Amino acid sequence: MQELLKKIETKEAVFGVIGLGYVGLPLAVEFANAGMKVIGIDVDEERVAKINRGENFIQDVDDDELAAAVKNGKLAATTDYSSLRHIDALSIAVPTPLNKTKDPDISFILQVNEQIGKYLHKDLVVILESTTYPGTTRELILPTLESTGLRVGKDVFLLFSPERVDPGNPVYHTENTPKVIGGMTESCLKLGVALYSHVFEKLVPVSSPEAAELAKLLENTFRSINIGLVNEMAMMCDRLGVDVWEVIDAAATKPFGFMKFTPGPGLGGHCIPIDPHYLSWKMRTLNYRARFIELAGEINAEMPNYVVDLVIEGLNRQGKSVKGSKILLLGMAYKPDIDDVRESPALDVHALLKTRGAQVDFNDPYVEKVRFDGIYAESVPLDEATLSEYDCVVVTTNHKVYDMDMIAKHARLIIDTRNSTAHLKNENIIRLGAAG
Ligand SMILES: NC(=O)c1ccc[n+]([C@@H]2O[C@H](COP(=O)([O-])OP(=O)(O)OC[C@H]3O[C@@H](n4cnc5c(N)ncnc54)[C@H](O)[C@@H]3O)[C@@H](O)[C@H]2O)c1
Repeated sequence: MQELLKKIETKEAVFGVIGLGYVGLPLAVEFANAGMKVIGIDVDEERVAKINRGENFIQDVDDDELAAAVKNGKLAATTDYSSLRHIDALSIAVPTPLNKTKDPDISFILQVNEQIGKYLHKDLVVILESTTYPGTTRELILPTLESTGLRVGKDVFLLFSPERVDPGNPVYHTENTPKVIGGMTESCLKLGVALYSHVFEKLVPVSSPEAAELAKLLENTFRSINIGLVNEMAMMCDRLGVDVWEVIDAAATKPFGFMKFTPGPGLGGHCIPIDPHYLSWKMRTLNYRARFIELAGEINAEMPNYVVDLVIEGLNRQGKSVKGSKILLLGMAYKPDIDDVRESPALDVHALLKTRGAQVDFNDPYVEKVRFDGIYAESVPLDEATLSEYDCVVVTTNHKVYDMDMIAKHARLIIDTRNSTAHLKNENIIRLGAAG
């Protein structure tokens, strides 16, 4: 262990990242920037080839930094797991989605686990980064590592450290977001901290992988529940005839004990709609129902339907039906100024409107095309002529580049789910939670 610690401290150790997506690629580039040799492993041949050509495909990664890291030999990618033989410490950042029945799909972690089992060697640090249910590190990965006769804490070292990256956040990036880290033993933690302190400004060590796994789930469950609360508040405000956005802004002036969350068309992204289900699934196996998680999930999942109700109401006021209407969705990404459509509520709004017989198109400056029912549709241009062709425009994502004054001037009807039009007095605008 002392030898490995020294190698890590002097940056002679080779760092590996398995899964080169939104989480893994920034991590790999940060370590290469910090002066360590980094090998990235991914099953996606196209991604691997792009990285090796110095081409970036993740918005939060700096193009020049990636190209420089590849050029100076600090970063290389491969699909070949046998390179684990040359790696001293590795982080795993593969997807952890839900399956069709909304149960955790840990198949990606299992695939990686199998490969690690094949190429495991003494003096290897393994850090799981993928969000997962409490107990995954100990129940799934530990047995694989020890099945070879090696002992965790003595020969190989195992930790969990949740990723907190917030895509598109202009202030908090990989290095300046505090990083929680929990080791299976004291020596595991010591090595993990030595490794991660090369890149992360602040580490938050906890006593076990389970504490680290659960910390991540608490963070995202907290968001899901608070978003559920303001979404319900928005629906209540519509009935009360009060503007929820004004109410939230007023409440947010309290300097303590309140944190601002805003309503919208539903939850999106790879984290908030999914992670709480990892915890509720685990609790079900222990015969416990995670009630807050379920209720928030129910309310948030209702929001796309609620948006469709607002569209129906708006069209009705103009004597039109949804069936046969032309509807334009503004923004397919799940949040402003990013290109990620995973779990985006705009996809649900799109599908629900189509089922009701509407002709639905979308515009998104960051998303060129989206696959609906196996067929790709392209983002339509956003100009005066196009806008005036539609019976209704739904603001699903408030990308900063949207010129709401221009949009409001030319759209016949706007359903605004993001409060982008609060400054406009226009009877053809219905704002979610603002009583029309
Ligand atoms: N995206 C976020 O904002 C975010 C934030 C915090 C935590 N997370 C968590 O981080 C994890 C990774 O998420 P992501 O957004 O980076 O996913 P992603 O889909 O962007 O990237 C995952 C990568 O893993 C690769 N991969 C899949 N199976 C593999 C295998 N068997 N071997 C090697 N590579 C494989 C994929 O090809 C892909 O490149 C998830 O658990 C997620 O919940 C994501």
